[in-house]
Amino acid sequence: MDKYYLTTPIYYVNAAPHIGHTYTTIAGDVIKRYKQMQGFDVVLTTGTDEHGIKIQRSAEKAGQTPEAFTTAVANEFSATWRKFGFALDHEQRTTDPKHAANVQRLFKDCLANGYIYKGSYTGYYSVVNEAFVPDAKEGDVDPETGQPLEKITEENYFFKLSAFREKLIALHENNPDFLQPETRRNEVLAFLKQDLADLSITRTTIRWGIPVPDEPGHVFYVWFDALMAYHTAVVEQGRWPADLHLIGKEIVRFHAVYWPAFLMAAGWELPKKIFAHGWLLFDNNKMSKSRGNIVRPEPIRQAMGADALRYYLLREIVFGADGNFAYDAMVTRYNADLANGLGNLASRTLSMIQQYRGGVIPALPAEATLPLATNIANATAAAIDAYEKFEFSKGLEAIWQLIGAADKYIVEQAPWKLFKAKEEDKLNEVLYSIADALRAATLLAAPVLPESTAKIWRLLGYATPLTAERFGQLEAGQLPAGQAIPPVEPVFPRLEMQPTIDKMNELEEIEKARQDLLLGKTPEPVTPADPGGIPLASQITIDDFVKVDLRVGQVKFAEKVKGSDKLLHMKIDIGEAEPRTIVAGISQVYDPESMLGRKVVIVANLAPRKLKGIESHGMIVAASTADGKPTVAGFLEDVPIGARLK
Ligand code: MSP
Repeated sequence: MDKYYLTTPIYYVNAAPHIGHTYTTIAGDVIKRYKQMQGFDVVLTTGTDEHGIKIQRSAEKAGQTPEAFTTAVANEFSATWRKFGFALDHEQRTTDPKHAANVQRLFKDCLANGYIYKGSYTGYYSVVNEAFVPDAKEGDVDPETGQPLEKITEENYFFKLSAFREKLIALHENNPDFLQPETRRNEVLAFLKQDLADLSITRTTIRWGIPVPDEPGHVFYVWFDALMAYHTAVVEQGRWPADLHLIGKEIVRFHAVYWPAFLMAAGWELPKKIFAHGWLLFDNNKMSKSRGNIVRPEPIRQAMGADALRYYLLREIVFGADGNFAYDAMVTRYNADLANGLGNLASRTLSMIQQYRGGVIPALPAEATLPLATNIANATAAAIDAYEKFEFSKGLEAIWQLIGAADKYIVEQAPWKLFKAKEEDKLNEVLYSIADALRAATLLAAPVLPESTAKIWRLLGYATPLTAERFGQLEAGQLPAGQAIPPVEPVFPRLEMQPTIDKMNELEEIEKARQDLLLGKTPEPVTPADPGGIPLASQITIDDFVKVDLRVGQVKFAEKVKGSDKLLHMKIDIGEAEPRTIVAGISQVYDPESMLGRKVVIVANLAPRKLKGIESHGMIVAASTADGKPTVAGFLEDVPIGARLK
């Protein structure tokens, strides 16, 4: 089987995952799934970039060792990617000892081939950017950040980048596909037309890095270390070279100039292709911590689903160009294309097969043609062509044209009329044709919408996974007649604009607070803490405390207690056979709807007590503030129902 190896950048661990990182990882996941459906044996790797002064400082700020800090943030990336269900084969951390050995090997090979020399360098250094600022003079500030520069003289190892100028030009000129899109290639060629300065690849000003062999006090410059993660990730499987590095446009020079030069110097194979996509902007601004406009992926996933984000990013923004991210545009896209488009075609088609044909896909009558065959063939050819070129929005547009054609055909043929008129053959032809078109659209959209297309596939009656299908064989008329379909389920329920946006904003606040804690920043208090000088209760021992059985419960039902403006009657699942009935005095602050689905803390072994005629079997834990209003306790992370608190 042909092999294909692709990578995402390895992400810095001084920030928690946001939609920028998610964007590249989604694209990687889509390409992996597409290539698999083309019959390739695919490996997709990502990872975390964990060395350097910025990360060392972030760890210090968080009051943690760099080891503990980088592990916590790397785990956060992993956990996020797991929730999104990305088909990742390996997450390479640069703090992995195997990686250090591999970077040292690259250094030794470059050294042995004469491309590394020792020198000393005096320059003006930007601590924030961890780089010398070329041509800076005394008193200058960092042009990017405005921070003062430090004058530093370092004994460094230098990489003879200058020796590779001609070879790099030849690489880009002879392989126009090596760096895509074209605009990036032109920028790099323009850069290569100027003189190339040698590159200092070791540092003595930092400790948090990979040690240079036989040179105590020197660690590698982060990019000499980071780029090698692509190689380390597959070193044991012998998968190098990479077929594709997916990156954002701001790191093109490192990938298209430095990286091939390092590999040429060591005599190792070069990656085959680099694709640089554009930036996601938020309110037309670059996302940044200082602007406070960072969008996190998890709230979107929880409110709308992973597929909704995947679809929106790849359909709305031309891959390669910059694009704006906005919640309202995402909900609009979702409703227009997913709920009313693919989702509606699926539920219409499947419901009619249920209703008119007892849930069995009818056979195409002998003399019937496949009226949507050309649409299927065109969409297939266009989608494959687009996937090959990473033109995702074009590909999706072609698939949605097929969906549109199927919708139009339904309206024209009006199967409900055929049913009434008992035109059985014609009805079979129409139902078969639309289900077959749904099958083709589902398959073609599978790399972008893995969760929902798997569901439609199952609803079409398939027992085999959709991922086992191959694009090369896709044609009209392949839907097996006589296949029984299960009861219809909604695929993309319509979403209301404002409540969905509100939900995402709410979840975003919680997620931000959780990530701030992780990165060691003190989260801003949501309501000012005012203990109100309440005297402490008398001291207890741990034995006293364990007598209180506190459990995680989830609210399954909630309604106001009639005749009371304070009490809420709830049924709360704490992992027992039946949810508990619990009455709590929180109704002035919490609507019944806002409690539904919420995870709360329950005192589970409190003696039952009747409130307004309802027997309450437990108590909800809540903070009571000076104004007497309760705030229900909850969790920032997901916890299983029934877990005990101690
Ligand atoms: N650690 C380096 C990369 C080393 S690769 C050997 C790095 N890390 S990063 O955390 O800053 O991630 C940068 C990458 O994340 C970008 O190249 C891009 O893939 C993705 N994005 C981060 N922010 C982004 C946007 N706002 N928009 C689109 N992608 C962005 O650079």
